[in-house]
Amino acid sequence: MATAELAGKHLVLGMTGGIACYKIAELTRLLVKAGATVQVVMTEAATQFITPVTMQALSGRPVYTSQWDARVPNNMAHIDLSREADAIVIAPASTDFLAKLAHGMADDLLTTLCVARECPLLVVPAMNRQMWANPATQRNVAQLRADGVETLGPDSGPQACGEVGDGRMLEPEAVYEAIASFFAPKVLAGRRVLLTAGPTFEPIDPVRGITNRSSGKMGFALARAAQQAGADVHLVAGPVALDTPWGVFREDVQTAQQMHDAVMRAVPDYDIFIAVAAVADWRVDHTSDHKIKKTADHRLPSFTFVENPDILAAVARLPHPPFCVGFAAESGDLDVHGEEKRVRKNVPLLIGNLGPLTFGRDDNEVVLFEASGQKKLPRADKQALASTLIAEIAKRLPDTSLIS
Ligand code: C5P
Repeated sequence: MATAELAGKHLVLGMTGGIACYKIAELTRLLVKAGATVQVVMTEAATQFITPVTMQALSGRPVYTSQWDARVPNNMAHIDLSREADAIVIAPASTDFLAKLAHGMADDLLTTLCVARECPLLVVPAMNRQMWANPATQRNVAQLRADGVETLGPDSGPQACGEVGDGRMLEPEAVYEAIASFFAPKVLAGRRVLLTAGPTFEPIDPVRGITNRSSGKMGFALARAAQQAGADVHLVAGPVALDTPWGVFREDVQTAQQMHDAVMRAVPDYDIFIAVAAVADWRVDHTSDHKIKKTADHRLPSFTFVENPDILAAVARLPHPPFCVGFAAESGDLDVHGEEKRVRKNVPLLIGNLGPLTFGRDDNEVVLFEASGQKKLPRADKQALASTLIAEIAKRLPDTSLIS
């Protein structure tokens, strides 16, 4: 999550009755941490599962539960509370509440707020698998979608009732990601983005290998930002300890050759290729299938190296290449090496940074190299920078008619 990525956003978080209410405490914390203003409104049933006191402490604002709340001076809580809202999010959304929404009912504060809203409505269903599968629920959800209501989830898996199936609420982190994605400008709508990220690992024997220093954070942040911008995203990742960004298709590989093969298989279906991976330039010619032992006479092992394929250059050489973006981590003279590398790899855009200073860090400072010149972007955390870079890439795409 980028620092304050939801700053300035005002959300009404409506809670209805269900055991998943306990997860909304964590969701509230995530939204507040991202800078959003969160106005919690609870149905009577929701207050049976978690107290308004808890939700008030986490949101930092008074919680509303009744249409007749005297704290709203004009007695118009059902209208006033959503006036400033950028969205109403109902989480958890119970079977009963979805039914009421689908029929436009307005018999308590939260239903009335939804009917009287001017902003988008997102619902996060949470219920037992049979309640979700019930034809009436499915009819109601289909009606809500037809009415322009966004449905987030539900997930599949073990449920509080002990059964397993569809209907459980998305985890709070996934709900957060879906909300952040909902608000991101859709500069890559209809686009398909293929990325590489992380290091590659070239084995020497079953326990040793050579690799590059790379946390994968920048590539994963770009994959997340591209997904949020509306693209279909395929991320080919080397060995890294990072969670897959929400909504991104991830393919794990180990070696440069595997990364090359995965990219070459996928690339005909993509119109943007962003090569962020720190690919090992060489691999040992013959890997040993047993652990190489130290010898009594201290003889050192020797290896013959062969060069790995240059994935970015190979993609850029295709007869109909996607829009190619390269990355370059340099230890000095970035101005010279960045442009030289862009020309050598034959890509329209190369993003350079002073690598050793940024390894594993959460922020980064980069320079854009392209035929028309260089542009330095201000230092920012990697997620905020990723959104900026995605916007920069979108501006440079050849056919802008596809960009909304
Ligand atoms: O040559 P260098 O490794 O600095 O080039 C960096 C750019 O080229 C990055 O975009 C990187 O992902 C890509 N690259 C690649 N295959 C390689 C080496 C680098 O795609 N074998």
